[in-house]
Amino acid sequence: MTKPNQTRESAQRFDLKSVRREWDVASNAYADAQERGLDYYRLNFFGPAMVDACGDVTGLEVLDLGCGAGYFSRQMAENGATKIVGVDISPNQLAHARRLEEKERLGIVYVDGDAAAIVESYGEGAFDLVTACVSLVDMPDPERVIRGAYRALRARGRLVFTNTHPVTDTKTRNWIRDAEGNKIALEIGDYFDESPIVFNWISERYKYPFQTTGNSFTLQTWMRWVINTGFIIEDFVEPCASDEAIAEWPGLDDSRIAPTFLIVVGRKNGRVKPRID
Ligand SMILES: C[S@@+](CC[C@H](N)C(=O)[O-])C[C@H]1O[C@@H](n2cnc3c(N)ncnc32)[C@H](O)[C@@H]1O
Repeated sequence: MTKPNQTRESAQRFDLKSVRREWDVASNAYADAQERGLDYYRLNFFGPAMVDACGDVTGLEVLDLGCGAGYFSRQMAENGATKIVGVDISPNQLAHARRLEEKERLGIVYVDGDAAAIVESYGEGAFDLVTACVSLVDMPDPERVIRGAYRALRARGRLVFTNTHPVTDTKTRNWIRDAEGNKIALEIGDYFDESPIVFNWISERYKYPFQTTGNSFTLQTWMRWVINTGFIIEDFVEPCASDEAIAEWPGLDDSRIAPTFLIVVGRKNGRVKPRID
């Protein structure tokens, strides 16, 4: 996930079929960049921040929504979660996840399906923690997914998700640079336009260019979904890259100019009746 290397335009189609097709095409380049350590935004910045936001996961049963090639599912396994189910709509993304599981067995189960419907397979209250690492933004109906996550959680369980920051990940988005070409400010527009966006992933770190479509909801919309579903917001993080990460990957310095990602931690409130169907 490397926003500075993307260009964006309006989407023609955004549904489960188109998402599956796009991520099937993207999967080899996307997984390869992660495996070669080139996805430094994830590996050195928002990934560790999301792990921190999950806190102690020892012994927890985790459902990872939109798991892709399994990056965050593996983080949870390596941090002590006992049962991890990763779900994704793209068979090709899951093929990478399963290949990596074969290579290093962590006991993660990968399931092909729609994140919004997964609760129907596992039942209500089956997990302690539901995670979604930069995946809710790629889903056509994230509100349904958040509601499904609520149902899939045990009482007092948590939903932790990271998204590209809705305030800065807008259709109009230009970095303003100084005379030396250094980024100094971010200009954004079309913030209230909630129609989907097409991202063109063009960068030397991907072995071929690809295109994916994502949603584009305002911060207000996201927070209302989380709150109205019944979650108590326990934490809200706008991560900045550390000095060490910037020393290794200078491109991460833009995370200190404007927020590029957010992390939300919501706790299922066992006492209050949620405003869901
Ligand atoms: C940006 S990738 C993130 C993958 C992974 N979480 C990571 O951190 O690398 C978004 C993923 O969401 C998946 N996805 C999109 N909509 C989905 C849905 N409705 N149900 C399950 N997966 C979905 C895509 O197939 C894709 O693998």
